[in-house]
Amino acid sequence: MKACIAGIGSYVPARVLTNADLERMVATSDEWIRERTGIRERRIAATGEACSDLAVQAGKRALTAAGLAATDLDMILVATCTGDYPLPATACLVQYQLGATKAAACDLSAACCGFVYALSVADAYIKTGMRHVLVIGSEVMSAITDWTDRNTCVLFGDGAGAAVVSASDGERGILSTHLRSDGTLCELIMVPGGGSHTPPSEKVIDERLQYIKMKGNETFKVAVRSLEEIARSTLAANHLRVEDIDLYVPHQANIRILKAVMERLSLPIEKVMLNVDRYGNTSAASIPIALDEAVREGRIKDGSLVLLGAFGAGLTWASAVIRW
Ligand code: UT7
Repeated sequence: MKACIAGIGSYVPARVLTNADLERMVATSDEWIRERTGIRERRIAATGEACSDLAVQAGKRALTAAGLAATDLDMILVATCTGDYPLPATACLVQYQLGATKAAACDLSAACCGFVYALSVADAYIKTGMRHVLVIGSEVMSAITDWTDRNTCVLFGDGAGAAVVSASDGERGILSTHLRSDGTLCELIMVPGGGSHTPPSEKVIDERLQYIKMKGNETFKVAVRSLEEIARSTLAANHLRVEDIDLYVPHQANIRILKAVMERLSLPIEKVMLNVDRYGNTSAASIPIALDEAVREGRIKDGSLVLLGAFGAGLTWASAVIRW
C-alpha cells in the first residue's frame, strides 16, 4: 500500500505587490530585489482574509482534482506558521468550512518545511489504514512581516496549496520522505515576541518583536548545504541518480539558493520548477503551489518522478520523492 497524491490545488490572493510598490515603502530597488532574490512580485491577502480562507480555497480545488467530496476525508493537516489564531487549530476552521464531517484536524508547525513534514505524516497514516488525508500548506506571511524592515519585507508572500493524499496499491505514490532538524540554529529565523516566551505586551509592539527576524546571509549558506545533502541522501535511499528525476520542486525562497543547489547537483534548470519570481517566499505554501502549477503546465505527468526539497526556520529541512 502506497500513499499517492490523488489531487492538487492552490490559491493565491488577488492583490499583487510589486517591487516598484516596495520601492515606495522602504529603501530598496527593483534591481536589488530581482538580482539578490529573483522575486518580481508577491501576493498579499486582503484585509480580513485569513490563513483558513486561503486554505479552504486550495483544499476545494484539490478535492475537485481528486474527484472526492469533503466527507470522504479522514484527516485534514494544515502546515502553517501564520494560523488564524493561536488556538483553535486552523485545520479545524478548514474542516468546518469544507464540511469534512468525518475528518480529524490539526495543524503542523515546521515553517517552510511544513508541507513536506505534513506529507510524511499523511504518508504514515495512509500506511496504517486511513484512506484520504488533505494536506494543506497555507500562509499569510504578510501578517508577520515588518513592512519597515527592508531585510525581510521584500522576501515573503501569501498563498496556499493543497494535496489530497490517498491510499493506492499501484506503482505510483510517495516513495520516501526524509525529515531533519537542528534547533541550535533556531535564532536564524524567528518571530521573537507574542508566544509563551515573550507574551504580547507594549514592549513587544514597541520593539516590533511580533514580526519575523532573519539572519539572511547565514540562512542562505545553510540552505544551500542542507538542500544538497538531503537531495543526495533521498536519491541514494531510493537507489536513484539525479538523472532519474523528471522534476525537482524546491521550496521557493531565493533564486540564488536554488541556482547554487542546481549547480552542486548538476541538475539542469529545465528540470527545476521555479515560480519565486511571481510569489516570493510563501513558506509552507510554496511547494504545493509550485506542484500545482507544474501539473497544470504539464511538467508533471502520470509516472513522473518528482523530488521535493524544503528548508526553513527551526532550522528544519525535508525532502520527498514521489512517483506521480
Ligand atoms: O524560507 C526561509 C528561509 N530564508 C531564506 O531562504 C533567506 C535566505 N537568505 C537570503 O535569501 C539572502 O540572504 C537575502 C536575500 C535575505 C539577502 O541577500 P544577501 O545577498 O545575503 O545580502 P546581505 O544580507 O548580505 O546584504 C547585502 C547588503 C547590505 O548592505 P551593506 O551592509 O552591504 O551596506 C544590506 O543592508 O544589501 C542590503 N540590503 C538591501 N538593499 C536594498 C538588505 N536588504 C535590502 C533591500 N534592498 N531589500
